[in-house]
Amino acid sequence: MLQNTKVCFIGSGAMGGAMIAGLTKKELIRPADITASDPYPAQLEKLAATYQVNTTSNNREAVKDKDIIVLSIKPQSLGEVGAELRGQLPSKALVLSIIAGAPIAKISQLLHHYSVVRVMPNTPALVSKAMSVWTATDEVSEHQRNQVKTILATLGEELYVDHEDYLDMATALSGTGPAYVFMFMEAMIDAGVHMGFSRRISEQLVLQTIEGSVAFARDSQRHPAELRNMVTSPGGTTAEALYQLEKGGFRTVLSKAIWAAYQKSRYLGGLKNNG
Ligand SMILES: NC(=O)c1ccc[n+]([C@@H]2O[C@H](COP(=O)([O-])OP(=O)(O)OC[C@H]3O[C@@H](n4cnc5c(N)ncnc54)[C@H](OP(=O)(O)O)[C@@H]3O)[C@@H](O)[C@H]2O)c1
Repeated sequence: MLQNTKVCFIGSGAMGGAMIAGLTKKELIRPADITASDPYPAQLEKLAATYQVNTTSNNREAVKDKDIIVLSIKPQSLGEVGAELRGQLPSKALVLSIIAGAPIAKISQLLHHYSVVRVMPNTPALVSKAMSVWTATDEVSEHQRNQVKTILATLGEELYVDHEDYLDMATALSGTGPAYVFMFMEAMIDAGVHMGFSRRISEQLVLQTIEGSVAFARDSQRHPAELRNMVTSPGGTTAEALYQLEKGGFRTVLSKAIWAAYQKSRYLGGLKNNG
């Protein structure tokens, strides 16, 4: 699928580096066909030494003769990189952007290039457990879509959606999701410490509980409410804890938080469209 495909990464930090690691470890693309571009020399040296990929600090040099151009820079660098690369991309190249909150229209307008895939990954990509949601413009061929699937699968799970609106929803749910889970995790660990567990033991109990619950939910394929009922005996400890969670508005607060993140994502995307 990706044999003889030449790929470059514009921005080779945490996410770009994770994708390079996945592609080379799974031997999907020869290191000689991968170019990492970044202004930070130490990062380039590390990538060259670890994965034997080509490196450059010149973005125009990096995109020459490439089939896939991954934009893995921070959103604030997009304007500068867009101006630098406008009119420089091979006409048949695919642009794959993982830049949070950058709409396809903005990317196309900056680069004057219309074969674009936009992806919303999340931080578990750094341990190959990402949830990446992506969409593509009509100009992206079937072959290129399959290539995108293969590339994103190196980061974890991927899901294609047929409209960019879903990217805003995914931003609020799976993109931002790890932050909600980390806060939940932190609160549980602190509660364990409050009762008298050492922090180390409390962390072990909480992390394994969360990991085990996810595995159980996946494996059993039952509705979460059913799984919750299984451990809720009448008048018992779980019922008491769940009563306090409901009383404190746990469900409503979470729902409002996700809705707020969705609205913010739409607002920021719209602002960028206009500006
Ligand atoms: N991390 C995540 O989980 C996550 C999730 C969803 C989406 N994303 C998106 O992924 C993108 C990359 O995130 P990241 O966490 O990998 O950020 P990062 O580690 O900061 O990587 C970005 C890299 O781009 C480099 N860079 C800056 N200006 C550049 C330029 N003009 N040309 C080429 N490279 C340039 C930076 O170098 P310097 O450090 O020297 O500036 C840095 O090494 C962001 O747009 C983010 O929104 C990330």
